[in-house]
Amino acid sequence: MHKQLLFLFVAILAACQPEADLATSVSSPGGNVAIETGLSDNGQPWYSVSFNGKPVVGKSLLGLDIQEQNFKDGFKMTNTETRSYSGSWKPPYGEYAEIAENFNELTLHLANADGQKMNLYFKAFDDGIGFRYEIPEQEGLDTLVVMDELSQFQMTADNKSWWIPGDWDSNEHVYSTSKISEIDGTPYNEAETPIHTQRIVDVHSVKTPFIQMMDDGTHLLIHEAALWDYPAMHLHIDRENLLFNSQLIPSEHSSVKSVNTVPFKTPWRSITLAEDAAGIIRSNLVLNLNDPCVLDDVSWIKPQKYVGIWWEMHVGISTWDMYGSQDMSSATNRTPSGKHGATTENTKRYIDFAAEHGFDGVLVEGWNIGWEDWFGKWIDSVFSFTTPYPDYDIDFLSKYAADKGVKIIMHHETSSAVPNYESQMEDAYQFMKDHGMDAVKTGYVGRIIPKGEMHDGQWMVNHFRRVAETTAKYKIAVNSHESVRPFGQMRTYPNWWAAEAARGNEFNAWSAGNPPEHETILPFTRIKGGGMDYTPGIFEVRMSAYDPKKTEVVHTTVAKQLALYVTMYSPLQMAADLPQNYEKRLDVFKFIEDVPVDWQDTKVLHAAVGDHLGIARKDKNSDNWWIGSITDEEARSFDLKLDFLDDGKTYTATIYEDGEGAHWKDNPYPVNIRTVEVKKGDVIEVNLAAGGGAAIGVVAN
Ligand code: NOJ
Ligand code: CA
Repeated sequence: MHKQLLFLFVAILAACQPEADLATSVSSPGGNVAIETGLSDNGQPWYSVSFNGKPVVGKSLLGLDIQEQNFKDGFKMTNTETRSYSGSWKPPYGEYAEIAENFNELTLHLANADGQKMNLYFKAFDDGIGFRYEIPEQEGLDTLVVMDELSQFQMTADNKSWWIPGDWDSNEHVYSTSKISEIDGTPYNEAETPIHTQRIVDVHSVKTPFIQMMDDGTHLLIHEAALWDYPAMHLHIDRENLLFNSQLIPSEHSSVKSVNTVPFKTPWRSITLAEDAAGIIRSNLVLNLNDPCVLDDVSWIKPQKYVGIWWEMHVGISTWDMYGSQDMSSATNRTPSGKHGATTENTKRYIDFAAEHGFDGVLVEGWNIGWEDWFGKWIDSVFSFTTPYPDYDIDFLSKYAADKGVKIIMHHETSSAVPNYESQMEDAYQFMKDHGMDAVKTGYVGRIIPKGEMHDGQWMVNHFRRVAETTAKYKIAVNSHESVRPFGQMRTYPNWWAAEAARGNEFNAWSAGNPPEHETILPFTRIKGGGMDYTPGIFEVRMSAYDPKKTEVVHTTVAKQLALYVTMYSPLQMAADLPQNYEKRLDVFKFIEDVPVDWQDTKVLHAAVGDHLGIARKDKNSDNWWIGSITDEEARSFDLKLDFLDDGKTYTATIYEDGEGAHWKDNPYPVNIRTVEVKKGDVIEVNLAAGGGAAIGVVAN
C-alpha cells in the first residue's frame, strides 16, 4: 500500500477507536503479574506492576530525552494493540533442553504534540515483565540523538538489595547488601544492573500493633535484554524516594548517550519477579526477551570443560610475556626470562593432561607478542593476534593437540586497544581456523581506546556485536572478559556463549579476593544475564604455597570449589588449578572430570541470596543428576530431597563433602568422599562447613 494511504488508514482506525476502549493494562498468562500503564496529566507515559496482587513497582515514569525532539511528554495515545504468545524454544546449550515462552503483550501507540510517533511495548510473563521503546519509521526523523532514557523503577518499599556500584568501565566489584535507602553507589550514585532486590514491608501498616519490618517474599531482578546499538543501563539511586532512574553509560566525549537511526528499538528493560529466591534462579525471562537465534548452523557450538596456561600466571610462578616484564622500549636486546608460561613444552604438558583427563580444551594465554608492553600504557598496536612468541611453536602444537583430540582455546587480550583488534579481527580468526581452533577468550583490561569510550557504552556495545557477528562467520565461540555484562545475548548469538564481566575467582589470587558469600550472590544477579567464566576448581587455595610471603587465599573450602561447577552456570567451565595440584588429589579431581556442562533440566534445592544455594541439574545426554550445594561464611546443613529422580530407577550417589573440621579459613582442604545407593524421594543430608559446599554425582545404575 502507498505509504501515505497506509498512514491515512491507520489514522482513521485510530480516530474511530474511542479513547475509553484503549487498553492500558495487561496481565501475564497465569494472571499473577499485571502491568498498568497510562499517560499523566502532562502526557508523559507511566507504568506500574503488581505481583500476586501486591504492588511491586509503583507508578514509574517513562520517556526518552532526544535532542531537539520531545519524546518525554505531551503524548496522546492514538491506539493500542494486544497480542498473546505461547510457545517454546530449544537452546543449543543451557540449563534447560527446552524453554517455555508465554506472554501477553500490550503496545501503546503514542504521538507527541508534533505528531511524532513512539511505541511502547510491554510484555507480561508469569515470571516478570519487559518493556521497551520504539521510534518507528516516520517522515522527517532519521537520526535520534539520545541524551538520556527516562525510565523509572519505583520500588514500593525500602527493599533489601544486592548491588555493585555503577562503574562505567568495570563490573569487577564485591557485592554489598543494604536497603535501597542505604545504597552507596559511589562515585556516580549508581548501581549496576542486574540488581537483585527483595521487597520489605512494614507490617505495622497492615497489622497493628506489631511494628516489625518483614519481607513479603517478593524478589525483583532489574536488568535488560537485547542490548544492541545502545549503552548498558545502570540505575541512578534516589534514596529518599526509593526510586531507581535509568542511567545510560556515556562516553567522556559528550553528554550524548547514544546515536541511533530510525526506525529504532531500545533494549528491553526486564524485571524478573518471584515469590522466593529460587524463583529467580528458575526464571528464563531475560533469555526470553532476546530475539531468536540468527545463526543458521549452531551444531558446531559444543559446551566444554577446559584447562589452561592461566592460573600459573595469576599465582606468579610464570609470566605472560616472554621477557619477564623487563619493560624495554625497543624490541631488540630482550633476553628471555625463563619464566614464560606459554612455551611449546609447557603447552604440550597441558595438552597431555587434558587428553588424559577427558578435557576438551586448553586455553593458552601469553602465546603472542605484545605482552612485554601491554599493561597500563594505554597505547594502540601493542598486540599482534597472528604472531606467536618465538618459543611457542603454534604449528607443531596445533597438530599435537589435534592428534590428542584436544582443542587449543585462543586468547586475545586486546588491552582495550579496540581499533587495533578490529583491524586484525578477520586475520586473527582465519589464523585460528588455520590452526584448528574454534573458541576464543577475549579480554579488555585497561581503559578503552578510542580514549573516552567506556567498556559499557554504546561504542563498545557495538564492538561486542561486531565480534559476535564476525566470529560467527568463522564458526568461533567467544568468552569475553571485561566486556559488557551479558543480557541473554546467547539466545540470538549462541556463539557469544559466556563472559566474565564480574569479579571472577582470579581476584582471590592477587587481591583481598571475594568473600565466601560472593558465589551465593552471582547466580542471583550477574549470571541471570548468561553463563559466567568464573574459573572454579582451585585445590591449592593458599598463595603461600607458591611464595611464603604471600597471604592471599581463595575464600573457600576445596569441596565448595567442586560444587561451583553446578551452582555457577556456564556452557564452558575451566578446571583452573595447576595440573600438579590436581595430580596430588585425583580422587577429588574425579568430580571435575565427571561433571557435565550441558543440562536438560534444573531444580533449585535451597536458595537464599547471599547465604546459600543448592541446585540439581540433569545431564543433557543421560539420566544422571549432578548437585551442588554451597554456603557463605556460615556453616549450614541441608536435607537434599531427591524427588526429581525417575520413578523405579536406582542410582549411585557419590558425595564430595567438607571433611571433618573443614573451614574456609583455618582448614580448607579436607574432602570426604562417600557413596550411597539412592532412589526417588530419598534424602541426602549435607553438612557444609563455613565457606564450604558439597558436590554430588547421582548416576543411574
Ligand atoms: C583479565 C582476565 O579476566 C584474565 O582471565 C586474564 O588472564 C587477564 N586479564 C590477562 O588477559
Ligand atoms: Ca577480569
